[in-house]
Amino acid sequence: MMHDAATGQMQVLWAAGARGWHVWQGALERALAGLPVRLTTDCAPGEADVLIYAPVSDAPVDFSPFTRCRAVLSLWAGVERIVGNATLTQPLCRMVDPGLTQGMVEYVVGHVMRAHLGMDNLPQDGTWAPQVPPLAAERSVTVLGLGALGAACAQALTGLGFQVHGWARRARDVPGVTCLHGDAGLAEALRRAEILITLLPATAQTESLLDSARLALLPRGAAVINPGRGTLIDDAALLAALDSGHVGRATLDVFRVEPLPRDHPYWAHPRVFVTPHVAAETRPDTAALVVAENIRRLASGEPLLHQVDRGAGY
Ligand code: NDP
Ligand code: OXD
Repeated sequence: MMHDAATGQMQVLWAAGARGWHVWQGALERALAGLPVRLTTDCAPGEADVLIYAPVSDAPVDFSPFTRCRAVLSLWAGVERIVGNATLTQPLCRMVDPGLTQGMVEYVVGHVMRAHLGMDNLPQDGTWAPQVPPLAAERSVTVLGLGALGAACAQALTGLGFQVHGWARRARDVPGVTCLHGDAGLAEALRRAEILITLLPATAQTESLLDSARLALLPRGAAVINPGRGTLIDDAALLAALDSGHVGRATLDVFRVEPLPRDHPYWAHPRVFVTPHVAAETRPDTAALVVAENIRRLASGEPLLHQVDRGAGY
């Protein structure tokens, strides 16, 4: 086990911003109690054994001074802002947090139900115009991405009775979900998507995955819900599909530029609902336990949880 020679403790450096520290300090101190660690916001880079990391600015971090560091533990699930950093030579772990997963399930179920029930289609101008939605069993929903978040959302939707298709890079097995992969699988997944949820990471392979050709595969009037990353969508293609009515509605939580600029056409579009990157937050009380478990594993030489595959980019 690596440790500070003077204190016998591992130095765990908070590298996730001053504002976040006040939110996380208590949960981390509770979770790390009993481990031989010193949690600090301030130590010389060459003395940190572990970094707890979140992106705090657009400037890339130079990890080269962290010569003793053995792991970088991200508080974010998406690691696109760090995964390609050439100065990072240590293992990188992303966040898989039960609280974050539950938050995403609640966001996705809420917005799927809103689309499924056609809540935004009911006139509120005094017109009495009953429209009876189908039951969930008659509705086909697709989740792109069957990782920690996508699989949990797909299962929750299955539990509500929807016909659920899912798509991933590799063959997956999620109970109750028709799992597809590869290019042919994507085409089938999109054809089945009366409601489409995108929970893929931002990588070179997923850049503009939803372009005009793929959007054209959706059933006419489909709803698109994107809590994944803004880069998954070709924005001009989505706006054109919304304007033509091929895509009925879009609920968008993540964008290529955040905050979404005030003059972006999404804000003004009558069939776009913008949420400000709030689909799911990492929850300190549950996530600190995940951080602590990885530090425990590091201290005892066990394999780390949720390691990022730097080659795959997620
Ligand atoms: P995971 O890494 O657990 O899962 C990613 C999934 O995407 C896997 O199923 C993976 O396939 C699939 N995938 C990756 N690349 C491809 C590809 N090229 N083609 C097909 N499938 C692919 O990530 P999470 O589920 O934890 O998170 C997903 C994303 O959600 C994050 O990367 C982040 O961008 C976003 N997010 C958004 C939040 C918000 O508040 N809006 C909060 C948290 C996360 P395979 O199973 O084969 O590996
Ligand atoms: C994340 C996010 O990746 O909040 O954790 O988007």
